[in-house]
Amino acid sequence: MTAKIFVTRALPPKPMAALRQLPNTELRVNPHDRVLTREELLEGVRWCDVLLCQLTDRIDAEVFEANPNLRLVANYAVGFNNIAVAEATKRKIPVTNTPGVLTDSTADLTWALLMAVARRVVEADKFMRAGKYQGWAPMLFLGTDVHHKTLGIIGLGRIGYAVAKRAQGFEMKVLYTDIEEKPYAAEVNAQFVDLETLLRESDFVTLHPFLDEKSTHLIDEPQLRTMKPTAFLLNVSRGPVVNEKALVKALQEGWIAGAGLDVYEREPEMEPELATMDNVVVVPHIASATMETRTAMGMIVYENTAAVLRGERPPTCVNPEIYD
Ligand code: GLV
Ligand code: GLV
Repeated sequence: MTAKIFVTRALPPKPMAALRQLPNTELRVNPHDRVLTREELLEGVRWCDVLLCQLTDRIDAEVFEANPNLRLVANYAVGFNNIAVAEATKRKIPVTNTPGVLTDSTADLTWALLMAVARRVVEADKFMRAGKYQGWAPMLFLGTDVHHKTLGIIGLGRIGYAVAKRAQGFEMKVLYTDIEEKPYAAEVNAQFVDLETLLRESDFVTLHPFLDEKSTHLIDEPQLRTMKPTAFLLNVSRGPVVNEKALVKALQEGWIAGAGLDVYEREPEMEPELATMDNVVVVPHIASATMETRTAMGMIVYENTAAVLRGERPPTCVNPEIYD
């Protein structure tokens, strides 16, 4: 029997080639370079056995109702807040993500944003390109030191840990908060504190939680007011972790010094005021966007698909209880 695989958006060449070589399969790939419309998504879901989807696809109860016999939903992301996993579990459909392979790239981008806002790299670049440079000057683009400062990590999972590891080279003091203390925190000299202490004491606050009800608007007005006026906020996790309107207010009124953002509350929209602020660096959800990492993520999607087609458990299943 032929297994039908639906890819909601083309993956990098290597995983696409691997998928095409799977025996007894029929592959359908979104022909457009855009997110599928709801109707296109549902139509593909009704057709397929295996759904390879993106974080921009909302895989909710309606999708599972459209095809309760899906054999796999493989998300091309580590985060899977776009998928109603409970609905999948109810129907014994495995859901997979792409953990591990994007940890370091995401930590690298967190540092790129941190360095860029602290040292005003984007602002200075614009200045050069505009032909405004008149020569070295004692007060030109004075930023904020990064080394020896305090880094506060909210969520010491794999990515938070990798960010902490990089902070060692900058001889920073590292604080973290999480649902529970992490035994591996000592390896990166990260000290467990409550959220309020972290916000009060950190020069850089970086967000790495999983998005759920508890972490939605984890950073809102009171938290932003608790931060130092000299501190920076970094978000490479999920937009809704921060109340973006409150962030705009905090930046306008100087409750904090600046922000580096990869994710937004209502992507692809962002609060328009952010684009007008020099102390904000904004990039379009590119934390895992390197050819190496996206290829590795695609290969995990492929491995999960191949395993399910062989009748095996997919290696990175997020709802393994369906096999109990
Ligand atoms: C990207 O945001 C991911 O979750 O992989
Ligand atoms: C994701 O890889 C995380 O656990 O931080």
